[in-house]
Amino acid sequence: MPPVLFDPDHRLWLLRGPTTAYAIRLADDDTVRHVHWGATLTLTEAVKVAERISPAASSFEAVAAVDELAVEGGARFGPPSLLVRFADGTRGVQWRYAGHDVDGGHLRIRLHDRHYPLRLTLHYRVCADSDVIERWTTVENHDDRTPITVLRCDSAAWAAPHRTDYRVSHLVGGWNSEFQLRRTDVAVAETVFTSRRGVTSHHANPWLAVDDGTAGEEHGEVWSTALAWSGSWRITLHRDPVGRTTWTGGFGHEGLTWSLAPGEALDTPVFAGLYTAGGFGAASRAWHGYVRRHVLSHPNETRPVLYNSWEATGFDVDEVGQIALAARAASLGVELFVMDDGWFGARTGDHVGLGDWVPNPVRFPNGLRPLAAEVRRLGMRFGLWVEPEMVNPDSDLYRAHPDWVLHMTNRDRTELRNQLVLNLGRPDTAEWTHAWLDRLVAAHDIDFLKWDANRPFTEAGWPGHGDPDRLWIEHTRAVYRIMDRLRADHPGLRIEACAGGGGRADLGILARTDQVWTSDNTDPVDRIDIQHGFSQLYPAQVMGAWVTDSPNAATARETPLRFRFHVAMAGVLGIGGDLAAWTDDELKEAVELIAAYKRIRPVVQHGTAYRLRGDGTLTAVQYAHGDEHVVLAWCPTRPYGHATAPLRLTAVRPEVVYRDTDTGATYAGAVLLGSGLPLDLPSGDHASTLVHLRPVG
Ligand code: GLA
Repeated sequence: MPPVLFDPDHRLWLLRGPTTAYAIRLADDDTVRHVHWGATLTLTEAVKVAERISPAASSFEAVAAVDELAVEGGARFGPPSLLVRFADGTRGVQWRYAGHDVDGGHLRIRLHDRHYPLRLTLHYRVCADSDVIERWTTVENHDDRTPITVLRCDSAAWAAPHRTDYRVSHLVGGWNSEFQLRRTDVAVAETVFTSRRGVTSHHANPWLAVDDGTAGEEHGEVWSTALAWSGSWRITLHRDPVGRTTWTGGFGHEGLTWSLAPGEALDTPVFAGLYTAGGFGAASRAWHGYVRRHVLSHPNETRPVLYNSWEATGFDVDEVGQIALAARAASLGVELFVMDDGWFGARTGDHVGLGDWVPNPVRFPNGLRPLAAEVRRLGMRFGLWVEPEMVNPDSDLYRAHPDWVLHMTNRDRTELRNQLVLNLGRPDTAEWTHAWLDRLVAAHDIDFLKWDANRPFTEAGWPGHGDPDRLWIEHTRAVYRIMDRLRADHPGLRIEACAGGGGRADLGILARTDQVWTSDNTDPVDRIDIQHGFSQLYPAQVMGAWVTDSPNAATARETPLRFRFHVAMAGVLGIGGDLAAWTDDELKEAVELIAAYKRIRPVVQHGTAYRLRGDGTLTAVQYAHGDEHVVLAWCPTRPYGHATAPLRLTAVRPEVVYRDTDTGATYAGAVLLGSGLPLDLPSGDHASTLVHLRPVG
């Protein structure tokens, strides 16, 4: 069965994923209307659904059918997805259908304005191995003389079917507290989720999930969407008092205006949508599968255990100190050594040197070669921290090119962390940035870059440019292009996305990076929540998680090493502590725990994730890979000193007997599903355990 079907009599398209269907139709006025998003149905059934959509009830109501990409004009009063103004002052659009074509799972529907030279293509892409539907749009100015003003150009609008109630799940946070999952009733209002910061942001992540208020981790219908964009974005969720819940989203925040030059076409990023019937857990697993198969470039590669110097040394890095850390890291079993901030220019603190990407001659008198060589001799790969989009005013770069930063005439240049943002929308700035990165990677055969961005945009102007708001698009596109080019020219290079921790995690950046620095917060208790939120959309194999020192640098909380490890082992394990200060006992324990991680790593990084909740404060993650299972369970506090009840597992086969690879204990799958896995948790707070189960025989 082809993935896209068309019924010419009813002008209806049906897109099919493995277990779901999405239907749209062309209305009499040639607008594309939503019909169905949910369980599989046939073309005939979809036609019936379309015919049942009733006309508007009164002159005060919008039409009952939902637009696939609402424009301004006609009886439309909800948030528009496409807002344009033509040179003569006319706003709004009236479409004429101009045809469609299907290329495998890619459907393009072409619409032309009836009078003006505006053309639109609605893109839909489905594939045989995922229920995720990718949608985006192309707007084109077909005139050869006059620009068109674009006030909004979203990638897609989505609609949940009629329900009595609607609830939205989304991710909020701040620096050090990213990915906090919130679930709230959808207000009868327009609710805006947005970043005006030029990066995805710590504060909101461009993912949301809508359900009718009854879905749980393992049951219920969930409609979720994620925008693949790493700059400013906006998603407007609209619950109509008499109608449906819909949401429209795309790049840019409100108030930006773009000019579509004569002959120009603008492609929006992908806004992907997923319907699942098995609760929030099934939604996450389907997203994880999609990210692996359709977003990441190296999904089958096992991410190395890394060491990062930041929490150990701060800006105080030099050849001798880093070599000493590297030796300790290697002796623990670390596979990739990453030197963080402080290695370049006059960078002795966050006030100076950013932008001067040459090794500091005092700290690295012979350049980076001796360190890189020693790291490799120790059997590790070598990585470096960079922050290519930023500059300290106190730097040679800024002194030479004060006009390269985002700025506005007659406005102060707001400094955050003593730095300004380079305008990578400028071809010269972008070219320079690519050139030094390319030289750096080539000169030292760099295996890994931690690509940071430590402040949002302010005074985001582009003096002298005729369409200055373009920088909100062009900067992000330039970041993408530089990463893509570096990766194409240096196939061994892997990149970690970071923006002061998890400020730039999204499907757009994941298409050109390999993992995300989830949060600067490495406190394992806080991390349980952060990782829970992160896992809603992103798989464990991209979730960077370090073990650092106790008490924690940010929260001052003291936790046992084992607990810190067990939390970090749920993702891509890294070590970020000051190894020079770890005791022999700690180092010995770390060796064992890193070795244990390497044993479970294929299951964690390539398996399927199930979020489990035990009783009291116990939470756990179970990873399943074939018939192998890994359970990581954490109990931050133990109120009343009560023992924890056995933890009921999922996804094990009832008829199979499993052996705990550590203790040798065996359990029938039916028992693990029914009464649960008894957990051998130490007493007291910050108790945790790791259980690795393999079938017997
Ligand atoms: C950001 C990152 C940290 C570290 C510092 C270095 O805050 O999130 O991990 O790299 O920058 O300045």
